[in-house]
Amino acid sequence: MQNENIRLEDLLSKTKSVQSDVGNINSVAIIGAGVMGQGIAHTIAAAGMDVLIIEKDAEHLQKSKEDLAESIDREIKRWAMTKSEKKSILGRIKWELSLNSVNEYDLIIEAVDEDFNLKQLIFMELDSIAKKDTIFVSNTSTLSLTKLAETTSRPEKMIGMHFLHPVPKIPMVELVKCLHTSNRTVELVKAFAAKIGKTPVEVYEYPGFVTTRAIVPLLNEAMYILLEGVATAPDIDTAMRLGYNFQYGPLEMADMMGLDEVLAWMETLWKTLGEPRYRACPILRKLVRERKLGKKTGEGFYKYDENGKIIPEIIVA
Ligand SMILES: NC(=O)c1ccc[n+]([C@@H]2O[C@H](COP(=O)([O-])OP(=O)(O)OC[C@H]3O[C@@H](n4cnc5c(N)ncnc54)[C@H](O)[C@@H]3O)[C@@H](O)[C@H]2O)c1
Repeated sequence: MQNENIRLEDLLSKTKSVQSDVGNINSVAIIGAGVMGQGIAHTIAAAGMDVLIIEKDAEHLQKSKEDLAESIDREIKRWAMTKSEKKSILGRIKWELSLNSVNEYDLIIEAVDEDFNLKQLIFMELDSIAKKDTIFVSNTSTLSLTKLAETTSRPEKMIGMHFLHPVPKIPMVELVKCLHTSNRTVELVKAFAAKIGKTPVEVYEYPGFVTTRAIVPLLNEAMYILLEGVATAPDIDTAMRLGYNFQYGPLEMADMMGLDEVLAWMETLWKTLGEPRYRACPILRKLVRERKLGKKTGEGFYKYDENGKIIPEIIVA
């Protein structure tokens, strides 16, 4: 009986300490403000926390800033947000070009391109600047968090938060535990996910986790259907949208995600799992070679106008 009491007390004090630590996560630094970094920043700032965004150069920083403001403007047009909400969200976000001030932030989320060497360099640099107890999060979709963790002096504080696009609207985040992630890190990040309104799903590190591994073969198959001339891109998307009650067709979805990212995920899945179903369709390679990367460059399987809407009559592939 006494043992049970002690265990209950331990449990309560652990829960309290996790709660108070999460209470202390009031500021988050995000590295990389592309499709994902912008959505993550928007979500965290909307939850009332301060955000620092770091981009690689002035040109990308300016473009990301404009894109984020435009995406919020679209929400205002749809009556989903007010101008004063926009002001307070953007007012909580600071922008910089160097990692130097990340030591002032409680949590760091990396959301740069899906390139292991790039991510590794960033985590090595962050490790030397960030506070000792800061948790490192990566938004990678397919890469090994264990290998990334091993390049830092705090492997037990490395975890994946696999947010999906569009981040402010997707209510779920995969929490990816690597070999070294401590239970405490999992608990803290789980509570942080709840604080920003996301339902966490715990998964173990494995290429593509649950969501990327399951969706990528579907996207690729749709591209082969297009390549083999079975149907046009809009007809493939309409069939899948209406036929299966999907919110987006697979080709629109690939364009939204960014075709360079989709190709990078397929290359990792193909290399690590060796299954033919992860062999990227030649159309995807061709579009990426031509830098037609989808919505973010204005052209992919479809062409887009300046508001990000598909131009119906012009189909690229
Ligand atoms: N696109 C999706 O649907 C999606 C979904 C889930 C996870 N992810 C993952 O999120 C990560 C980012 O993907 P994305 O789609 O946002 O890519 P993106 O190409 O849209 O953005 C990447 C950003 O990182 C910036 N960057 C590159 N090097 C940098 C550096 N050294 N310092 C600071 N910024 C740097 C780039 O300028 C760019 O703005 C990837 O790991 C990807 O696998 C993407």
